[in-house]
Amino acid sequence: MYNTRTKIKSLLHSYTLQSTVTIMGWVRTFRNNQFIAINDGSTNTNLQVVVALGMLPDAVLKRITTGASVKVVGTVVESLGSGQAIEIKAESVEILGDSDAEKYPLQPKKHSLEFLREIAHLRFRTNTFAAVFRIRHAVAFAIHQFFNQKQFVYLHTPIITASDAEGAGEMFRVTTLPMDGTAPRNEDGSINYTEDFFGKGTHLTVSGQLEGELGAMAFSEVYTFGPTFRAENSNTTRHLAEFWMIEPEMAFYDLEDNMNLAEEFIKYLINYVMQHNADDLQFLDARLAEEEKQKPTAERQEMGLLEKLRFVAENSFERINYTEAIDILLNSPAYKKKKFKYEVKWGIDMQSEHERYLVEKHFKKPVIVTNYPKDIKAFYMRLNDDGTTVAAMDILAPGIGEIVGGSQREERLANLEARMQEMHIPTDEMSWYLDTRRFGTVPHAGFGLGFERMILFITGMTNIRDVIPFARTPKNCMY
Ligand code: 4AD
Ligand code: MG
Repeated sequence: MYNTRTKIKSLLHSYTLQSTVTIMGWVRTFRNNQFIAINDGSTNTNLQVVVALGMLPDAVLKRITTGASVKVVGTVVESLGSGQAIEIKAESVEILGDSDAEKYPLQPKKHSLEFLREIAHLRFRTNTFAAVFRIRHAVAFAIHQFFNQKQFVYLHTPIITASDAEGAGEMFRVTTLPMDGTAPRNEDGSINYTEDFFGKGTHLTVSGQLEGELGAMAFSEVYTFGPTFRAENSNTTRHLAEFWMIEPEMAFYDLEDNMNLAEEFIKYLINYVMQHNADDLQFLDARLAEEEKQKPTAERQEMGLLEKLRFVAENSFERINYTEAIDILLNSPAYKKKKFKYEVKWGIDMQSEHERYLVEKHFKKPVIVTNYPKDIKAFYMRLNDDGTTVAAMDILAPGIGEIVGGSQREERLANLEARMQEMHIPTDEMSWYLDTRRFGTVPHAGFGLGFERMILFITGMTNIRDVIPFARTPKNCMY
């Protein structure tokens, strides 16, 4: 009957003095052989349990160590100490699992994020990661709620796929063929994938968009929310090889409708967390303020976490087109003082330093950049009347850079086919995709929100490895 316990968060929220409760959790600290601070993961607030002197034999007291799991039955009483309203007067303390204090890596002190990344299997037990992952959960829930309220259909798009949605070739191959050199070969020496498991070459998906478009052509509005994989060799604080993406796809939407939805969506998620995870946000706000204090004044962020979230939720995102963005960069003091590492000119794929300049220095708020040169964007984006730009939109967020990538789609069959040929994308294999344009094509649009980048933004964490439970990055795949 383990399930009759009370969770600490619920108890702190509503309690009856003098009632008997059962608490289970992990010991954070044990002071003076009397005061146990217990955490069960429901909140960062530990519950204080008071053990009367002489109540427990020495052998048991010795086993109440940091990291040990315990079951406590006791009475709810008013707490005399500061900090919390109540504490538990123990009637019984049972050790469920010992934790050798000498060996347990999490000591009751501040550990660096780098160190905790090495022991990611234990880091959920720290306040920072507990707050981050409770928020991650809340955002995932809010995403489904947002789209459900809008009557979007949640479509599960495949994880194993034979098409490259982004046409960028950054895919992980999926195969059951032997890797020892004995795989069947074609006459030209290349591997013969017709003998592979699926009878063709397959990969892990980089995006569910193309399949999402198929759904939108029937349900009008769909969204996907699942893992995506990119074999890009980018060892940065913003890139994962396995990340989660939310991709809504809407029929009868143009670029502006698309931007409006994306902006509303981001604000909804921020508001949801501010309403439902206030404690955890406050904890992370204080944590970030502490981190910022360690930095030289010039490098500190202007706003605290909560201040930033409120600001973003309450103000309109700036909307500019790509050409304006490049002009701003070319006229910037940073450009004139040669502060940018990468070249700036019309046609470039903006680097993170450029995006962050626009957002953090110039506009000081999220920016939606539209109408990029067609040559740096994917084949499915709608060609503008100028013949050189496409109806794309990227949302750039302070501290992050690109958080959303999207576009209005090319719904005109002839244009799409021409573009695919130009970009050497085989139209025969993608016949199923072109069918959407052959049979009842409609203007439509969609976008992808990088889930981990959104969590970075909301939690104020700075490394993407710290907002996904088990990070996959180049040369790193533990667990
Ligand atoms: O801009 P991307 O590549 O767009 C697409 O995949 C489109 N199919 C989306 C759509 O229109 N349905 O990726 C979308 C977002 C980026 O803005 C970024 O937030 C995130 O996905 N992202 C990554 N996040 C973490 N690690 C990576 N390696 C990422 N690559 C993209
Ligand atoms: Mg992009």
